[in-house]
Amino acid sequence: MASILVIDDEPGIRSTVKDILEDEGYRVHTAEDGPAGLDILKREKIDAVILDVWLPRMGGIDVLKAVKDAWPSVEVIVVSGHASIEMAVSAVKLGAFDFIEKPLSIDRLATAVRNALAIAGLREENRRLKRGMPETETLIVRSKTMRQVVELIEQSAQSDARVLITGDNGTGKELVARRIHELSARANGPFIAVNCAALPDNLIESELFGHEKGAFTDAVARRKGKFELASGGTLFLDEIGDMSLSAQAKVLRVIQDMRFERVGGEESIQVDVRLIAATNRDLKARIASGLFREDLFFRLNVIPIRMPSLAERPQDIGPMAEYFLGSLSGLKTRRLSEEAVAVLAAQEWPGNARELKNFMERMAVMSDEDELSAETVRHFLGKTPCETPQPPEGDCFQSLAALPLADAKNEFERRYILHHLRKTGYNVARTAEAIGAYPSNVHAKIKKFGIEAGE
Ligand SMILES: Nc1ncnc2c1ncn2[C@@H]1O[C@H](COP(=O)(O)OP(=O)(O)OP(=O)(O)O)[C@@H](O)[C@H]1O
Ligand SMILES: [Mg+2]
Repeated sequence: MASILVIDDEPGIRSTVKDILEDEGYRVHTAEDGPAGLDILKREKIDAVILDVWLPRMGGIDVLKAVKDAWPSVEVIVVSGHASIEMAVSAVKLGAFDFIEKPLSIDRLATAVRNALAIAGLREENRRLKRGMPETETLIVRSKTMRQVVELIEQSAQSDARVLITGDNGTGKELVARRIHELSARANGPFIAVNCAALPDNLIESELFGHEKGAFTDAVARRKGKFELASGGTLFLDEIGDMSLSAQAKVLRVIQDMRFERVGGEESIQVDVRLIAATNRDLKARIASGLFREDLFFRLNVIPIRMPSLAERPQDIGPMAEYFLGSLSGLKTRRLSEEAVAVLAAQEWPGNARELKNFMERMAVMSDEDELSAETVRHFLGKTPCETPQPPEGDCFQSLAALPLADAKNEFERRYILHHLRKTGYNVARTAEAIGAYPSNVHAKIKKFGIEAGE
């Protein structure tokens, strides 16, 4: 029997949802806010969470992040009122499985839960099948920009030079770091990842450098730190841009000669570690505002690798989408129609590869077509794409109509220009011709909207 946790501050909703789900045959737990819900997750085996985005104490988005961080395989379905629909959409981008609008429909709720459990089951099966096999993820590369990234990966794998990977959320920074490690002479050594953003200041030293037994109250045994664990291999300092200044100072001190002491210890420990760092922050800006040490930046930025966003490489979207579609085992092999690929490629993916992957997994579970059509893709995108002309009452118009006039005009113009640029392969002259404008005007718009050219 699957267990569902309902987190909602309204007692009426809690009991209604509980009744509905119990009728469907699930075991149901309820909590009135985020912290109470997280406590239940710690105690009980929960398969899926139904989460109100609008919560007192800890906001729904923060609860979602906490759940996904600690229990990545638990699917979260977000519930929102009409006013917080944008929050629900960003929740899906952060890894929520689906969202349901209030007032809740029984059917919609039951279907969302059934689908969430189906995908959780498939993931589990996938993990089972993969155990025993080497865990190598494929890096899909089609665009010229990504081929250049691959060249950098191959070059940097040949030395121990430090690498700094920058790029937006979900562009594949961690995947690239792993790939460098796998191709390097250290491939048989460990790859240890540290999320620098998640390190509380008082634990950084012991996390990174380890501690001796009795070094502080909770130090019941000697513990190796990440630097020591990574010896002979690669240490991946993820989200380095979010590291506190005091942690930066400590790391800077150590990385010169890779020598340090454990907390509460005297022995000086020498390790052989290759450093790769990554961030989605603009480090130059953080240096300018005093949040990041310039000296540390120069030490880490020996080989810079910038991950392009999907908008800069629409050519990768189709192959990636097909790869993600096929990477869920337990499902028959699916294809995408050419038109479906075009719809995906024209879509904006602010969450980049991660968002595309989540989206393809949802489609894989929820649709049973052998070849997924453009209509299906549009349907699951939850809107009729703005790129195709729609009657004024279409969804696209609705989203524009919600904006003040000046913003709506701008937003329309941006989408319009982007659409024609993509259609012409970012050829300004042909775009200008197609829309009946001067090339200089098109250039001005590209600049105004900060559109970055694909290839
Ligand atoms: N080129 C690619 N080919 C195949 N899968 C990819 C590619 N790029 C990213 N992915 C997949 O997309 C997901 C997100 O990638 P990854 O975690 O490396 O991104 P990230 O840049 O570290 O994200 P964040 O900024 O959120 O930490 C992963 O599941 C990864 O395997
Ligand atoms: Mg990452």
